[in-house]
Amino acid sequence: MFLAVVLLLVTLSVQGGNGEEQAEAQRPGHISVVIVGATGDLAKRYLWQGFFEQYVNQVSGGNSFSFYGGGLSPTSTATPIFFEIIKNVSCSENTSPERCAVLKEQFLRLAQYHQLKTLEDYQELAKHIEKELQQEGITEAGRLFYLSVPAFAYADIADKINNSCRPTSGVWLRVVLEKPFGHDFRSAQLLSSQLGSSLKDEEMFRIDHYLGKQVVAKILPFRVENKKFLDPIWNKHHIERVEIVLKETLDVKGRIPFYDQYGVIRDVMQNHMTEVMTLLTMRLPVNMSSTQELLQKKLQIFSNLLPLGKNQAVIGQYQAYKTSVQQEMNKTKDHISLTPTFAAVLAHIDEARYEGVPILLISGKMLDERVGYARILFKNNIFCLQNQNSVHCKPKQIVFYFGHGQLKYPAILVSKNLFKPVLMEREWKEVTEHTDVDVLGLPISDYYVQTPSENREAYSELISHIFAGRKNSFISAENLLASWGLWTPLLSSLAGSFPRIYPGGADNGDMLNLRVEGKDISYSSEVVIIGADQMSGTSAKDFQVMQGKFRSADMVSAWSEELVERLAADIHEAAEAAVRKGGVFHLALSGGSSPLALFHRLALHHFSFPWRDTHVWMVDERCVPPTELESNFNSLHDHLLQHVRIPYYNIHPMPVQLNQRLCVEEDAGALLYEKEVRNLVNGSSFHFVLLGVGYDGHTASLFPGSKISELGDSLVALTESPIKPHQRMSLTFSAINQARTVALLVMGKGKHELITQLSRVKDNPDKWPVTGVDPADGKLVWYIDYDALLG
Ligand code: BG6
Repeated sequence: MFLAVVLLLVTLSVQGGNGEEQAEAQRPGHISVVIVGATGDLAKRYLWQGFFEQYVNQVSGGNSFSFYGGGLSPTSTATPIFFEIIKNVSCSENTSPERCAVLKEQFLRLAQYHQLKTLEDYQELAKHIEKELQQEGITEAGRLFYLSVPAFAYADIADKINNSCRPTSGVWLRVVLEKPFGHDFRSAQLLSSQLGSSLKDEEMFRIDHYLGKQVVAKILPFRVENKKFLDPIWNKHHIERVEIVLKETLDVKGRIPFYDQYGVIRDVMQNHMTEVMTLLTMRLPVNMSSTQELLQKKLQIFSNLLPLGKNQAVIGQYQAYKTSVQQEMNKTKDHISLTPTFAAVLAHIDEARYEGVPILLISGKMLDERVGYARILFKNNIFCLQNQNSVHCKPKQIVFYFGHGQLKYPAILVSKNLFKPVLMEREWKEVTEHTDVDVLGLPISDYYVQTPSENREAYSELISHIFAGRKNSFISAENLLASWGLWTPLLSSLAGSFPRIYPGGADNGDMLNLRVEGKDISYSSEVVIIGADQMSGTSAKDFQVMQGKFRSADMVSAWSEELVERLAADIHEAAEAAVRKGGVFHLALSGGSSPLALFHRLALHHFSFPWRDTHVWMVDERCVPPTELESNFNSLHDHLLQHVRIPYYNIHPMPVQLNQRLCVEEDAGALLYEKEVRNLVNGSSFHFVLLGVGYDGHTASLFPGSKISELGDSLVALTESPIKPHQRMSLTFSAINQARTVALLVMGKGKHELITQLSRVKDNPDKWPVTGVDPADGKLVWYIDYDALLG
């Protein structure tokens, strides 16, 4: 069964006892490779190919091998499938077809499938290995188990390996594990301790395939080789920002049951992108081959990273995700998943060197292109008056380009206005002949470009490191826990947050653009896109906010900021239409805290609002002097009126104070206001009435039990509030329901309960006054923010 030749092999390095990776003779001999999950997707796509390459590299050098495919399926059914898969391995370009055929044949002869389900199965396997070793009279070098199975099975398999497959002393055991290593700090810790009871730390190889990417693996060596150029500029005085970006065009169809539990932050940020971030920012170790020192330097970064909270992240979800979840997880049509498929996170390192330098991590599915890179953008303090094309005016940046995208190959790019970098060792080459392509804002010819001479798959690279026992390319338990320590608080604070829905691909337009302000990150377009069931096939600008129905009337919903923006825009539009038609716009505004953001929005963003032709009326007023903070007019004045150019005579406060007293029936203030309305407002029909709803269902100052029905045809009335100040003046339903448009604005989590109740109750204005809002010829629109709508 074994290949007869067992040559002496001096492998590159092994793990030394003092945590140093040293070039040392590794005992040659036989290596048994076992892939548990041998017919799974990962094994099919990368693992067998990687082991084949490793076999080819080593076959002429020394060790002998046997390869075992393991899985839960019985040997009889899985064996043909297994061989179908491994038949597909391929040789490198420079291998002749004849030699390739021989190598493949040898590889197939060394491989066999074993069912690995029970402890007995593992015991069988161990017996098999030992028997073959004896028969061939070969010394054993090591046993490698690659667990390409769901993480929940790790502890159990590790236990079985420990109980039955440990080799004799002096022979190494290596167990390779794939992420996910837990889904938060505690679960990672638990998994770590479970595995720790079966395996020694040096026996575990936790894979992060990004560490096997050629460019990622060169980040530290590049920093070391170019130290003399980088030292003076690798700091806050020179770095504008750092971006780590992993954009993908694919969706997650087919892997939703897994993905939905994880989402983009756990899937790629906690691991791949965090690793890249630490490689870019950690202090350079004095001894690059010291595992211990590298780890310490990495851990230092983790402890200096500022905590990540809600303001340091935005999340999104591609539109079709919801339907895929419903289908793949057998959920009903109203099932909503909050799992983000897009996230942008803003990190900062609390070290003098990086103080204030934004580090952006951005990743998502269904974006416009597939590309991965890390870019260090430097400040450019040159001001170019003319000739903007001069090299001095262009961005200064270093790009670690992992692959795909415009460039299509992995590369390290340094803009020519920075410095000429040292070429990375023999296996890399400089690219001087370029196709016409732009990379992150610069034509490729403006960069010094270097690329690996031969492109190698990350998995193949890492598999060779496993054989060599090079632990630096793997994730240690401390590193893993430090990373979860960073991400877990953010994940908890985002739990329950609604991701912005994006349509996918080029249609995303500007929706996912970001704004960085100080330590906070947000979407730069303030319009939210969400809940687009009925909107498939539309593009970003078509579905700005969620539209729907509430109590049979129109409803607009969005996050509060976007909702307010939309309401302000709707009022502005109504104003322009009214002024165009009749030269005047009558707007009735209510008090309370909900409209304040709207007032600010109107004052600060709607400079073309026709204030000169707008009359501002009050929906209701508290019977207090207008100088008091409780006065609705006072608040309207402070938050809106004083900021806009509206003529004084267009402002109509309610006359709650007459004859130096407040809201006395005989003073007939309500009647006075009614007259003013009748005199100025055509048909007493306001163009736009803004209302809110109180916790008890009151609207305007019409409270439950106010005997609203007894108010008759009067447009304005004195009413009683159950809470102070008790006396109020209010428009009645007669006035409200004559309006052309009535907007009901409801915001905040505190109103969720109310909204839920309102969605169920019948019209009953005595109990729920707001249910009496029913414009006769106009329309009613509910503006409800997500907090109020969804709780
Ligand atoms: C994997 C994630 O770890 O990395 C995938 O689970 C993601 O969701 C992939 O697509 C990205 O890797 P690469 O090598 O294609 O950039």
